[in-house]
Amino acid sequence: MQLGRRHDYLINHPDHIKAILCAPQSEMARSTPPALKRLLGRGLLTSQGDYHHRHKRMLAPAFHKEIVRQWNLTITTHCERLRDRWSEGDEADIEYEMLRLTLAIVLKALVGAELEEGTDEMARAANTLVEMTHCRTLPVIDDLLDKIALGRIRRFKDASGRFDEIVYRMIRERRDANAPVNDLLSALLRVRDEETGCAALCDDEIRDETLTMLMAGHETTAHALTWTWYLLSQHPHAEQKLHAELDTVLQGRMPRIDDLEALPYNRMVFSEAMRLYPPVWIVARRNPNAWSLGKFTFPPGSFIFISQYLMQRDARFFSDPDHFDPERWTPEAAAQRPRYSYFPFGGGPRQCIGEGFAWAVGLLVLASLSQRWRLSLAPGQRIDLEPLITLRPKYGMRMIVEQHSNRTQ
Ligand code: HEM
Repeated sequence: MQLGRRHDYLINHPDHIKAILCAPQSEMARSTPPALKRLLGRGLLTSQGDYHHRHKRMLAPAFHKEIVRQWNLTITTHCERLRDRWSEGDEADIEYEMLRLTLAIVLKALVGAELEEGTDEMARAANTLVEMTHCRTLPVIDDLLDKIALGRIRRFKDASGRFDEIVYRMIRERRDANAPVNDLLSALLRVRDEETGCAALCDDEIRDETLTMLMAGHETTAHALTWTWYLLSQHPHAEQKLHAELDTVLQGRMPRIDDLEALPYNRMVFSEAMRLYPPVWIVARRNPNAWSLGKFTFPPGSFIFISQYLMQRDARFFSDPDHFDPERWTPEAAAQRPRYSYFPFGGGPRQCIGEGFAWAVGLLVLASLSQRWRLSLAPGQRIDLEPLITLRPKYGMRMIVEQHSNRTQ
């Protein structure tokens, strides 16, 4: 694509996507919109090179499978609260509900804060910050928006000031606390430099990483779930099959992380929803030096785009690609396709660090709410895409809550 004097590229084959995503960072750097850099400082999303590599290594243990398992209670407690709050016939703004639910879970797991108990201030700051990322992903448009959106920039500064106050206060409180707290903030404070044995991260670095996780973690998962509810409402056969699996395996008790292995259809539904509506629908890379792929050489400084949305709807790899069909995700069917025909969490050195956490939250929310409720689109609800940094429903997602008729509780 030629935009003025600039040449941009869109890559559309799994082998080439693999080559680009898995190239060393010195050859292929993530291209991040400037507004995001100002917002997140030097967190994992926005940092580059050795700094990024060092931080990713230090943060990885905080997302280890065993740590994610410890968040089981946090996740299920919040799901249970929402499940109990709904009543038959309610009309719910499902996008808002999912955003609030995942924000509450992520806040608790990251900084040990309860959304309901006095952290409204933090939630408000986080929400304003999330709104700031309502800019389009393409860097050229984002630059332009930055120049004209003075109001946005003022609101961003206010919100980020509020957020900083709260996070720095929490860091002080954790340092002073005698009893260990089980959250990411405490894990970051415990990280030690391998050579000196001293604390490896200063307060500013911890602030940047915490804010990054909060931003990267809650909106993505919320939108994956919002689209999943929409798809289930349109495919009653899949919905019934999901309910049958939940009824048989769980016998009416609340699901736990340990149950997820025994709920394959639940996972197939969520996988298929992220195929059709990948929360991160496009990523961009830039090559500092000329870079060759087969016979083609990208000039230095090219913008190279890779779109999950396009690749995951490509008829070469998915027959009848726009059709929602969870059966594509039986292990046998999935093994037939190349690895990078489906990559909602990216890959290579910049692969999503929160993938395990996102699966746990997504699958537990889906299972626990489906156990009691089914959702159908509210009359007149229009559906269209709004491809911002995440892929959102343009007109929201109002849905009617109805009892799942076979429920055993
Ligand atoms: C369904 C939910 C999620 C999806 C679809 C998703 C998707 C992605 C993708 C595609 C990338 C790579 C972007 C690129 O290659 O340029 C990424 C990176 C990242 N994600 Fe996620 N993510 C999700 C949830 C989470 C959660 C729960 C967290 C943390 C709590 C998180 C934290 C991050 C971070 C820190 C990065 C940057 C990693 C790096 O650059 O090394 N994400 N995510």
